[in-house]
Amino acid sequence: MNANSHISSEKLALFYTQLEKNKKLQGPLMPTLHDAQHIFGHIPLKIQKIISQELGESISKINGVVTFYGNFSLTPKGKKTIGVCLGTACYVRGSQTILDTIEDELKIKDGQTTKDGEYTLQSTRCIGACGLAPVFSVGDKIVGNANISKAKEILKEMREHIK
Ligand code: FES
Repeated sequence: MNANSHISSEKLALFYTQLEKNKKLQGPLMPTLHDAQHIFGHIPLKIQKIISQELGESISKINGVVTFYGNFSLTPKGKKTIGVCLGTACYVRGSQTILDTIEDELKIKDGQTTKDGEYTLQSTRCIGACGLAPVFSVGDKIVGNANISKAKEILKEMREHIK
């Protein structure tokens, strides 16, 4: 199990403190979700239920917001996020095959995190580097003019690095 998925009582206490503060705000839902994401690294169903009870919002609304916004995640994120742009310019230049390759190599699907908690794979919309299409990112680093062999090479380097 990923260590990040554990919710400690300290984190929970911190979250409740923030929740009480947020309740005084007009529209407390978004600040509370931001706090939850920040404190726990993700917003699992257990936390969504607490938010639902405390703020009187339906679970389906909360779940809808969490899944709609890219800033929130339902599962713990890895130490690094690998983003593959599926915006139009990148897509027409084959970024889907790059995403498929990374999925195969890391044995996870888009949106998932590797079992060792190192990497989260996330497809994205245009990240504003269309001139370099197709692009993917590893943490803050952007890899432009990407192709399958470049993706494989970078994944290999990353794996060697974490050994
Ligand atoms: S479409 Fe990929 S960077 Fe713009």
